Parts: sequence; structure tokens; C-alpha cells
Amino acid sequence: MLTPRLKCIISYVNAGVAADIGTDHAYVPIELVRSGRAGRVIATDVRRGPIEIATGHIEKYGMSDRIETRLGAGLSVLAPGEADTIIIAGMGGELIAEILAANGEIARASKLILQPMNSQYELRRYLVENNYIIEHEDIENEGQRVYDLMLVRSGYMDPFATDIDYHIPPYLSEHPKLGMLIDKKEREFKKIIAGLRASRERDSVRLEYYEERLNELERIKIGKGVRDHKNDNSKKNN
Ligand SMILES: C[S@@+](CC[C@H](N)C(=O)[O-])C[C@H]1O[C@@H](n2cnc3c(N)ncnc32)[C@H](O)[C@@H]1O
Repeated sequence: MLTPRLKCIISYVNAGVAADIGTDHAYVPIELVRSGRAGRVIATDVRRGPIEIATGHIEKYGMSDRIETRLGAGLSVLAPGEADTIIIAGMGGELIAEILAANGEIARASKLILQPMNSQYELRRYLVENNYIIEHEDIENEGQRVYDLMLVRSGYMDPFATDIDYHIPPYLSEHPKLGMLIDKKEREFKKIIAGLRASRERDSVRLEYYEERLNELERIKIGKGVRDHKNDNSKKNN
């Protein structure tokens, strides 16, 4: 039931009250309570079906007094500061950014654990440009699938020095799974480039952008561990 991705998310929680936004099956809240990593959890989802399944699982594990389910969109179901840690996992990066933007006051009152399934670049840009600090990132994998996890809080961080840093942040330079993340990005960029080259109406600006980024990825791969650590917020803030 608990995949490496979910275990990784759970390993970063140490909360009195946690909120799991888009809980689906409620596996994360159940494990948070079972392991003592959270005293109480608010498990939310925008759809009634997942909330009913989550409620069934919570009852099965006898945790109804510690895990409360709420039906509703994003952070709108929380009061500011009600949860000390908010988890938003298993969704696209752009959707996560939209959820934060819709209820900024609530997002800014808690520690955030974000685990985007795609559009990590767009999410990092949103965070940096909207006064959030990415304090730490982790990489987890399940076979060939590679996942990013971000620990975030409200505050100012310097923008990344170059565009490629929003794809592969320099503070991941020494992460043991960085090679897997670079390989994933390489596959992603090559697919986009192939699509752009095959397209009748060639978007030369986009094509050039991805060709340049692909070259930069190659350089990062060769020089792993030697990039600028200016944005290492985990070191700066801990
Ligand atoms: C793929 S599941 C991820 C489940 C779990 N968080 C995980 O990481 O495995 C995404 C869940 O998010 C819910 N969801 C999508 N948009 C949402 C929103 N704006 N607010 C709350 N839940 C949302 C979906 O209904 C679905 O149950």
C-alpha cells in the first residue's frame, strides 16, 4: 500500500495537525497517525468518491477520531494555521500552483510538502516568483519513475541564476539520485524536440529553447556536483 514515493512524503512530516489535500485513498493520513508522525490529520478531496473510499479506510483502521475527512477544493476547506503541515501530492505542478494561488493566506500559514507529478519547472517558478522558499528538495524513484518532493514555506528566496536551474536545481547537485532525474529530463526534452522537429509548423523558438536546455543537461551530467550552491536553502535555513 505504501510506495517509496508515499514513504518519502511521510518521512518529512512531524506535525501536531497535518492536512493531506487530494488524499484519494487516505493512505498518507493513515500512516501518519499509525507512525505517530502526526497527532491528527485533515484528509481532503475535491471529489466525493475518494472521500467515501478514504472514510471507509479510516474506519477500517479505527482512526476516525484522529483523521477527519473534508470534501472541497484545494485549501478552501482549511482555516489559516489550522494545520501546521500541508501535503499536496500526486498532482500536476500547475494544479499545485493554482491551489496555492487560490488560498495564499492559508498556504502561507503552514509548512508545505509538495510532490508534483509533472511541471516541476512551472511550480518552482511559481514558488520563487510568489515569495515562497524552497527549503529542501528530495528525489525518490519507483523503478524508472522519478519523483520530486519539495519542502516549502512562505518567505523570500533569491531567484535561481539560470533557467536550467528551474528544471534541475543546483542544490540537488550531490543527491545520489540526481542522475536518474537528469535522465528523466533528458528523455522528456528529447521527446519534445522530436515532436517539434516532426511538426509541420515548426516552432523554432521552442525548439531552440529545448535544444539549449538539452545541451545544458549534458554539461550538468558531466560536471555533477560542481554547480553553484547559492540557492541551497536547506543549508541556509536549518
Ligand atoms: C492522483 S491522486 C493523488 C492521491 C495522493 N495524494 C497521492 O499522492 O497518492 C489526486 C487526488 O487529488 C484530488 N484532487 C484533484 N484536484 C484537487 C483539488 N483542487 N483539491 C483537492 N483535491 C483535488 C483528486 O480527486 C484525487 O483524488
